[in-house]
Amino acid sequence: MSNKFLLKDLNKNLSKKDILQNLQILLKKFDNKKIVFSTSFSMEDQIITDIIFFNNLPIKIFTLDTGRLFEDTYKVLKKTIDFYKKKIFTFFPESQDIEKLYFEKGAFSFYLSLENRKECCFLRKVKPIKRALKGVECWITGIRATQSEARKKLDFFMWDENFNLIKYNPLLNWSLEDVNDYVKNKNLPYNNLYDKGFLSIGCEPCTRKIKKDEDIRSGRWWWENNTKKECGLH
Ligand code: ADX
Ligand code: SF4
Repeated sequence: MSNKFLLKDLNKNLSKKDILQNLQILLKKFDNKKIVFSTSFSMEDQIITDIIFFNNLPIKIFTLDTGRLFEDTYKVLKKTIDFYKKKIFTFFPESQDIEKLYFEKGAFSFYLSLENRKECCFLRKVKPIKRALKGVECWITGIRATQSEARKKLDFFMWDENFNLIKYNPLLNWSLEDVNDYVKNKNLPYNNLYDKGFLSIGCEPCTRKIKKDEDIRSGRWWWENNTKKECGLH
């Protein structure tokens, strides 16, 4: 089946409520090694991790350690591994890339221009994820539609032009309340920063807490105006 038809088929036929069932169907369609889930240890990602680990699904989970994450994020990484007693793979940026970046532009180049910010995101996230997604056919993410205007236009299953694979966003139609309820009801480990006013968490120098009435992603790259607030992963 061509990718176009496969996507149509997946979007039409896979139950949009039962994520476990969907993952089990996907595991029959794709080789185990060709389905992966990437986690940033957000509340959303903790739910998908829970479904995968709790049900012993043979889906590899990986994270990207940009080198600039919050201490709290490393703590939730450890808590998650301890909680499930399972492995999570970590991908780092290439050391030469960061050595060159610091030599030429210093450690805070991302504040100086959008171009510099995208360069840093490219070296610390996009390049490493290219390695992580090598040979992968189906990439699972924790994206939700209400996180941003751009994300409202996405599908559960979509073709990802950047990485040439199918991207599956199982939580696309979940509300923030749905997410919080799941994590709290199952008593899952989560990032302490959520209790301190953070709602979308990325790298430490590029994330700040937000006020109650602000957009979920307004604390990300907060100094940038009118730009699509994405780092190149999505
Ligand atoms: S971002 O592109 O703006 O950083 P966001 O924080 O909303 O993304 O997360 C959306 C999804 O992208 C997550 O659910 C996760 O699947 C993936 N993702 C984001 N950051 C990382 C990371 N550091 N490591 C692994 N996956 C990530
Ligand atoms: Fe660099 Fe900030 Fe992007 Fe992290 S979020 S990779 S520190 S620019």
